[in-house]
Amino acid sequence: MKINTKAVHSGDRKKPGPYVPVTTPIYAASAYSYASMEQLDRIFGQEESGPCYARYDTPTAGALEELVAALENGPGAQSCASGMAALHLAIMAALADRPKSIVAANAMYGATVGMLMNILEPSGVEVAFADACDIAAFRAAVETARPGCILVESISNPLLRVPALDTIAQIAREAGAALVVDNTFATPLILRPLELGAHFSVHSLTKYLAGHGDVMGGAVVADEGHLPIVRGLSRTLGPVLGPFEGYLTMRGIKTFPLRMERQCANACRIASWLAAHPKVERVFFVGDPSHPDAASIRRLFPPNLFGAIVSFEVKDAGREEIFRFMDALRLVVRATSLGDVHTMMLYPPMSSHREISPKHRERMGIRDNLVRLSVGIEAPEDVIADLEQALG
Ligand SMILES: Cc1ncc(COP(=O)(O)O)c(C=O)c1O
Repeated sequence: MKINTKAVHSGDRKKPGPYVPVTTPIYAASAYSYASMEQLDRIFGQEESGPCYARYDTPTAGALEELVAALENGPGAQSCASGMAALHLAIMAALADRPKSIVAANAMYGATVGMLMNILEPSGVEVAFADACDIAAFRAAVETARPGCILVESISNPLLRVPALDTIAQIAREAGAALVVDNTFATPLILRPLELGAHFSVHSLTKYLAGHGDVMGGAVVADEGHLPIVRGLSRTLGPVLGPFEGYLTMRGIKTFPLRMERQCANACRIASWLAAHPKVERVFFVGDPSHPDAASIRRLFPPNLFGAIVSFEVKDAGREEIFRFMDALRLVVRATSLGDVHTMMLYPPMSSHREISPKHRERMGIRDNLVRLSVGIEAPEDVIADLEQALG
């Protein structure tokens, strides 16, 4: 089935019975009873499938996991309470029986860098950063570190770099490392990392998949070999997604391909407009024909789907001018997060990359005049009119 069909049907109507709810309800129970102790024993022992305790599994989360795995063409998924919990789970599973060492892309979400430097490194995991878009440098870093895990974003936050995932998967295989890809910005409509050789594809469900700004969640899609490790870690550690959030996320995903197509089209239009604006210094957009990673984008991306984030630098602006510009917005929402139906703008040094020191941010290329626009499904001319008046 095509992704739009899967988005509407996968995971639902699995429970046999005299009647079948057309969509998966919220199963709010924390534990489940069965007809006999014999059967409950089989369920606990995982010889028979079925929920027994909500930390292990719930029918709502189970249906969502089936849905997310279907979108990614993966064998299964584990849902989590946030994207960060999902990333942590994937990294733990990747390192479970490998050297405790990670080579990560140097362009990534601030909290991910924070987790690597402030939590994993002090706990004994070796962490090295390298430019994932410079294949020779990245390969050299992997050969030096011999890591157990390689971590990259399929479209980086916030400067929208696109590593050659197929080549990086090859480098990971040669090094015996597991490749974890944060696919939040690209979404499975654009890229499905497991098809390119990754071992894990991770999502902040909070973003495009749920899509309405009303839910927090994450998911790890893992290959056959790693799925039982992910599930085992999750059963014990319990970073699980609640049934209410699972329900909202499934509801959101039904329109995800439609929303995403529209958001990508709107982003193209807004990026072109920004590029011609005299107060805009530089525009970062995956659909820009002169993008530094154009070769990977041409090879890996479907036509005309470049994601829906546009970052840009405002000419001669610092923090004060950016605050003034953003305070003047009337339609575009000043908020962190991305991927919602409404267009929103964030100032990375204040939010997504706040945990990173100014020096490190500068090395990452994140300047004080950069803003990140997550384009929604509104009429693009209304968003453009708002940007115009606020830049004015
Ligand atoms: C690329 C990326 N990955 C992961 C996350 C973390 O997701 P969550 O906020 O759901 O934990 C974010 C959050 O902004 C993100 O931008």
